[in-house]
Amino acid sequence: MCGIMGYVGPQQAATVLLDGLRRLEYRGYDSAGIAVANGAIAVLKAEGKIDRLQAVVDAVQPPGTIGIGHTRWATHGAPSDANAHPHTDASGKFVVVHNGIIENHQSLRDELVESGNVFTSETDTEILAHLVADAYDGDLVAAVRSVVDVAEGAYALVVMTEHEPRKIVAVRRVSPMVVGLGDGETFIASDIPAVLHRTKRFLIVEDGEMVVVDDSGVRITTIDGDPVERDVFVVDWDAGRAEKGGYEHFMLKEIYEQPAVVTETLTGRLDQDGSVWLADVTFDNDYARSLQSVWFTACGTAYHAGLVGAALFRKLLRIPTYVEYAHEMRYNEPLVGSESLTIAVSQSGETADTLAAARQARSQGSRMLALTNVVGSTLARDADDVLYTRAGPEISVASTKAYIAMLVAEYLIALRIGRVRGDVDKDLAAEIALGLNQLPGLLEEVLAREDAAIAAAEQIVDASDVYYLGRGLDYAVAMEGSLKLKEVSYLHSEAMPAGELKHGTLALITEGVPIIAVATQRALYDKTMSAVSEVKARGAHVIAVAYDDDVSIDREAHTVLRIPTAPDLIGPIVAAVPLQLVAYHVARMRGHDIDQPRNLAKSVTVE
Ligand code: M6R
Repeated sequence: MCGIMGYVGPQQAATVLLDGLRRLEYRGYDSAGIAVANGAIAVLKAEGKIDRLQAVVDAVQPPGTIGIGHTRWATHGAPSDANAHPHTDASGKFVVVHNGIIENHQSLRDELVESGNVFTSETDTEILAHLVADAYDGDLVAAVRSVVDVAEGAYALVVMTEHEPRKIVAVRRVSPMVVGLGDGETFIASDIPAVLHRTKRFLIVEDGEMVVVDDSGVRITTIDGDPVERDVFVVDWDAGRAEKGGYEHFMLKEIYEQPAVVTETLTGRLDQDGSVWLADVTFDNDYARSLQSVWFTACGTAYHAGLVGAALFRKLLRIPTYVEYAHEMRYNEPLVGSESLTIAVSQSGETADTLAAARQARSQGSRMLALTNVVGSTLARDADDVLYTRAGPEISVASTKAYIAMLVAEYLIALRIGRVRGDVDKDLAAEIALGLNQLPGLLEEVLAREDAAIAAAEQIVDASDVYYLGRGLDYAVAMEGSLKLKEVSYLHSEAMPAGELKHGTLALITEGVPIIAVATQRALYDKTMSAVSEVKARGAHVIAVAYDDDVSIDREAHTVLRIPTAPDLIGPIVAAVPLQLVAYHVARMRGHDIDQPRNLAKSVTVE
């Protein structure tokens, strides 16, 4: 997620901004830049780490005590000097930094180009600079307000102009923003850690608010201009905790980001009737109709996302769909060819095995769609089509929010193909769209029940083995729950389709062995419960994940992790979250280094 900085005060702004940006590095970024006003505005930016920007700043030493800064994590346009923020209009007198996504950027860009504006970057942000300049009539606040009226999406925006040289105007539409109150100086930042060493006093900017900072201080209003009273929030966290948004670990922070991530993944892509727009998925309708098979390939958590995708594709699209571990696919002589679509799933887009499998599929004539979180990653560059998951940088090695975003993205691809082929009719498309749009709220409800996950974690923290069961889509989710537990708690666990149990693993089920059964698939419910009865008969301790309206589950399970009632197709995504929380809390109780589990790396770039 991008980082934003703004400064008005007596100090040299370049120094304050660079220092703040360094403290936002933990959010992840691929380029950085600052703009400093001293009469004229100097804009300095560089792809890569902040040390590169520091070298540029050291060479120029821009004077000035007001400025804005940014660390960019690419969403529109690859990481590059040109795409780094700040962006300006053609005159260079208006400068903006921005975090988030402008949904209607393409139509706004088309209009601006038509009226003669020349763009120097591929970003959606640059549009805002041109729009503010065009709207400016002697009042920066009014110009920014008019731009916010037309720029749809979830974002935070900070603007400066040479015409009003001691003023910064900022707007929060969903994406976070805080104001730090210093002694005769004011800071704007996307996150508290940027300036926590300078002040403990903050104003938290709420969604739909505007901030105007100048030498006299700070004024918060609604976007429409109504004054807002805000109490000062005094922060007593240390810097490490502040980076984690007050959470103890990045993993927990990222689990809690999931409702917002789902909103980001869906933003501008899904209509209420189930119509889907995926900008970089460029295959045409004839291609979608001609498809004979789909192959998912990936590793680890991304492979588990592929399992869900494949189950979904088979169910909805009735296309033969296969999932292969990328490291296996490379050597399995896969029967993938020109009539197949290969969907390579990778958070990082840099996993060596996934890159190799995807390249192999392409070399055999398959079209390749990259489902990835990282803009401009190798996988994205190799691909014919790309669908970015927009989960934001994931710092914990254990993947959580990137996984949920992958699942949501798979539903979008399924809708895109299914509508064209006619497998998904209007009613079903609208039903899925409704379920996806409700998902952020459902996930919020699950997160509000964290205590139940803590209680379940207490029941398994001393176990030596844990078994996860599920059928159909629930089996795919059980696989991910099991991996999460292994990875962060170092407890042995296995997942299996519930029907497989009595073909061998049942021999391991004895008194007190924990079983976690996922039961969101109504059509398979009784089958799953048969397996639950079998393990209970051997003394197992059963923890079930089941809907609120499941009235019989209390008879079957010793403990129930309730999730809000959802349609069968959406339930498995909701069910993934309590499993993440259980894994997290078991690891915490066992005192592990949760964000950096032993022996594991975030991105596996070797075979
Ligand atoms: O970046 P990728 O999605 O390609 O990474 C694949 C796996 O290495 C990754 O999902 C790994 O399994 C996670 N650490 C699991 O939490």
